[in-house]
Amino acid sequence: MKIHNYSAGPCILPQEVFEKSAAAILNFNNSGLSILEISHRCKDFVAVMDEARDLALELLDLKNKGYQALFLHGGASLEFLMVPYNLMTVDGKAAYLDTGTWAAAAIKEAKNFGETIVVGSSKEENYTFIPKDFNVPNDASYFHCTSNNTIFGTQMKSFPDLDIPIVCDMSSDIFSRVLDFSKFDLIYAGAQKNMGPAGTTLVIIKEEILNKSGRNIPAMLDYAQHIKAESMYNTPAVFPIYASLLTLQWLKNLGGIGAIEKLNNQKAALLYNEIDRNSYFKGAANVEDRSCMNATFLLKDEKLAPVFDKLWKEANISGLTGHRSVGGYRASMYNALPLESVQVLVDVMKDFESKVSETKF
Ligand SMILES: Cc1ncc(COP(=O)(O)O)c(C=O)c1O
Repeated sequence: MKIHNYSAGPCILPQEVFEKSAAAILNFNNSGLSILEISHRCKDFVAVMDEARDLALELLDLKNKGYQALFLHGGASLEFLMVPYNLMTVDGKAAYLDTGTWAAAAIKEAKNFGETIVVGSSKEENYTFIPKDFNVPNDASYFHCTSNNTIFGTQMKSFPDLDIPIVCDMSSDIFSRVLDFSKFDLIYAGAQKNMGPAGTTLVIIKEEILNKSGRNIPAMLDYAQHIKAESMYNTPAVFPIYASLLTLQWLKNLGGIGAIEKLNNQKAALLYNEIDRNSYFKGAANVEDRSCMNATFLLKDEKLAPVFDKLWKEANISGLTGHRSVGGYRASMYNALPLESVQVLVDVMKDFESKVSETKF
């Protein structure tokens, strides 16, 4: 049975990644061993780690540009504190853009390390838009932003030009659209959206920004130590990293980020057109800031929710319920979600419209 998986994360991954991962659990690289029982130091896994780090940089067009890729533990949430630990100078400050729950969580952690300036916030409007007119102080150690706000369905379409390092939480839209990634000095993303299963976090760092904070950093939280150890300072998340590599290979074979961006734009246009056309629905986020990854939308009349919910569930749609901070619905259209799944949802919305208008609820 085909399930149309709109889960916000962990989420849908390409079918071939599931199949190859399953095969590797039984017999990894024809070794007769499961990937779950091999040493992370064995030749075959070191090759996986090296290729995954290399391919991540290649897909982002950051190879040979002074960047390093790491696969760490602790989720994006650990990066909320590793970033200030490594980059905020002692007695210094950092600038943050507050665009949602995850940005606010990053701000909260930064405050443990020093002065944390919130340069713009849409909190008062329940994060329905991305603040645009903000000033970043030139003497901040870095500027931190969240490219895609998974919960609220907003996405930054442009990023400021600054003389200080830019740090970006790209957990929910990395590898989904073409950007000039060299604009960023540090990018992090939990794997469990566009890259793989939960359990590892991709961190991309421009090496020259490290070792300037003047802090004594515990080894496990020190990016420089992880770079020195080639992302094997301690036992890495072997299986999530292997599955992430398979997803990155899938993306490369598809034509890279440029190719998937076209598909992602098609999917988003199809769904947002229906949200705007269908008189029973409304979008939750400001139109110009709408996310191509997570579309948030509401029923104009919430009393009709049981009718709509029954229809999408019958169509084998899963994971469409909105986050409690927004309500309504959230359709997460990550890279691996096929256009066909979006068409199924749009058809359900049309069907709902005709059923409701016929029966005049
Ligand atoms: C944008 C963003 N940042 C951070 C996080 C937290 O990630 P993790 O659970 O890997 O710590 C999430 C989780 O959904 C997210 O969407």
